[in-house]
Amino acid sequence: MQKNVRIAPSILAADFATLGAEVAAIDAAGADYIHIDIMDGHFVPNISFGPAITKAVRGYSNKPFDCHLMISPVDPYIPEFVEAGADIITLHQEAGAHLHRSIQLVKAAGIKVGVSLNPATPAATLEHVLEEIDLVLVMSVNPGFGGQKFIPSQLDKIRTLRAMIDESGRDIDLEVDGGINAETAPLVIDAGADLLVAGSAAFKGSPEQYAANIQAIRGKS
Ligand code: DX5
Ligand code: ZN
Repeated sequence: MQKNVRIAPSILAADFATLGAEVAAIDAAGADYIHIDIMDGHFVPNISFGPAITKAVRGYSNKPFDCHLMISPVDPYIPEFVEAGADIITLHQEAGAHLHRSIQLVKAAGIKVGVSLNPATPAATLEHVLEEIDLVLVMSVNPGFGGQKFIPSQLDKIRTLRAMIDESGRDIDLEVDGGINAETAPLVIDAGADLLVAGSAAFKGSPEQYAANIQAIRGKS
């Protein structure tokens, strides 16, 4: 069942020089989750930050830390992100040969686990792990950078996953990430998404504007 729409601002678009204050500001502005983009310069062509920075900002918000790991390999780093305070670890279907094993490692740590799909990866690749996971993340841009344009072909994938999740009867978040703003948010919500990542659209302007930014993405839902 599609849940109420929640917004997960990505701190990739925040001012890194004042990251703790940025996390506190986006929390106060109405963020539901804090989305943390981890990039390794190998799985994706960009480097962001790792578990130390995640841990450093943990004290600035009580909202769930939604850690999106765009790294390969992923398994060796799971304990560090758990220790840093992740509430959800989302790893990529494409990050390694043994997705089921990676999922089990996160579950064994006692936190939620998500799986993300790149734009070219079909929904059906999750068929045999859906019963194990808490979240599916559809990438609506190629991962690696903020500020890219939404890829409309992902709407079909969101609809397919909505049906798969409903069929499973399990409580699984359907999250979308990339190019989400006030114009694209209604499209993904209509397709069945219930958790929206927004980087540049959430952190636009100064912290005084963040609440209005989040409200604009949330729309009337
Ligand atoms: C892209 C990241 C996204 C990114 C979204 O690889 O996973 O979370 O920060 O940024 P916007 O909302 O600007 O597309
Ligand atoms: Zn992300």
